[in-house]
Amino acid sequence: MSPPDSNPTASMASTSTPSSSPSPAASPASAPHATPAALALPTASAADFPADFVWGVATSAFQIEGAADADGKGPSIWDSFCRQPGVIADGSDGDVACGHYDRLEQDLDMIRDLGVDAYRFSVSWPRVRPTGDGDWNEPGLVFYERLVDGLIARGIKPYLTLNHWDLPQALQDVGGWGNRATVERFVEYAVGIAKRLGGKVASIATHNEPWVMAQLGHETGVFAPGIKDRRIAAQVSHHLLVSHGLAVTAMRALGVTAPLGIVLNLAPMVPATDSAADRAKARLEDGKLRRWYMDPLFKGGYPRDVLDDLGHAAPYVEAGDMALIQVPIDFVGVNYYSRGMISADGSWDAKAGGLELTDMGWEVYPQGLTDLLVGLHRDYAVKRLYVTENGGAFKDPIGADGRVHDEDRTRYLDTHIAAVGEALRQGAPMGGYMVWSLMDNFEWASGYEKRFGIVHVDYATLARTPKDSAVAYRDFVRRQRAARGG
Ligand code: FCB
Repeated sequence: MSPPDSNPTASMASTSTPSSSPSPAASPASAPHATPAALALPTASAADFPADFVWGVATSAFQIEGAADADGKGPSIWDSFCRQPGVIADGSDGDVACGHYDRLEQDLDMIRDLGVDAYRFSVSWPRVRPTGDGDWNEPGLVFYERLVDGLIARGIKPYLTLNHWDLPQALQDVGGWGNRATVERFVEYAVGIAKRLGGKVASIATHNEPWVMAQLGHETGVFAPGIKDRRIAAQVSHHLLVSHGLAVTAMRALGVTAPLGIVLNLAPMVPATDSAADRAKARLEDGKLRRWYMDPLFKGGYPRDVLDDLGHAAPYVEAGDMALIQVPIDFVGVNYYSRGMISADGSWDAKAGGLELTDMGWEVYPQGLTDLLVGLHRDYAVKRLYVTENGGAFKDPIGADGRVHDEDRTRYLDTHIAAVGEALRQGAPMGGYMVWSLMDNFEWASGYEKRFGIVHVDYATLARTPKDSAVAYRDFVRRQRAARGG
């Protein structure tokens, strides 16, 4: 079976674009790399980024940790999903992944050596509360405490995400996100983590990419838990939003002062032609991806056009739900990879678009990031926006010289950082930018075949080797710091 599309926009019925992964160990500090051409920022200068702008790198628990049943961890829906034949392109799973669970200190040193301000990571819910309901698992909590303390000790701000898709399987067994009871379980989980880590972390995001969990997990079924039911998918999206609102409220009631928010996968939806049909379709796709989440979060209701499109599949909404969802938040995290090109008849083909494509087949389109951020600012007046994920999968083998010359990725980061600078110039309240990803990892349904890391991972030895893009990003962040006098 060919790899199912994991990109958010790509999997929409009528689009042909993205959504939304052999050498000795070396750390960035010890790597004898000559510095490659630095990120040049052709359109953005250091002065464009405010002094408190946060530069970071991102990962998620299931994609890097491994140790799938170590120290009392329970199974997640991704552990179970990977066991189904044919759903992961290379037949792999997350049992070992990058072995991060057993290499925590080494990886923390690697992040420190990159010189970034922040590290965005997620907590594995079944590692800290194996069934999502019963007892908490102390060794799991201790792992994240070590992670957070270790970051702080190295001068790196911890950006915590509560739910990056790995729901405890035991909760799926009783209906998962389709069951409203999971909302209560999530709030308990958020409160438990906030009690333990809320006073230390720099930020907490409730969910990563609810669109992906709802649509890819429950409508197209190419992601865990692999359900294919449009009505359930819509209900899941509503439960995710309600749980977000309730968790934010509960964490604030506990006295958490760290900024609280949510992370969405977004892309500007561009009509492939100027025809009325393509324009109408692009408008609807924007509704499904962006307005379906942003409108309830900031305007108190679901968009009418998407509700009409859903018809009988529209979610059941309890009285008071919309007010719960609309609780004020401190930031929205934006995960951006590419634009969505929309043709009503599904005929548009990325290969014919004339733009460079990544190894995922996604168009390289930095302008879309500026458009998206400026549009969010204009339409929703969000307090703070972060780019919480941005990066590219490229085929980049280790060369004879033991290095990875990933000029394509370096260029991708360069042009997208410049696009953030342009958004800032146009007034978007940008707080930071995080590269996806710190290191190559388990890219969901694509398995280990797609590499997004700025650090290469040899899956046979788990050796980490910083790519040229890691060195370029490190040097860029250094120059930023020098420019701000830090
Ligand atoms: C996003 C996910 C992240 C990673 C990137 C490539 O949708 O949040 O885990 O897989 O795509």
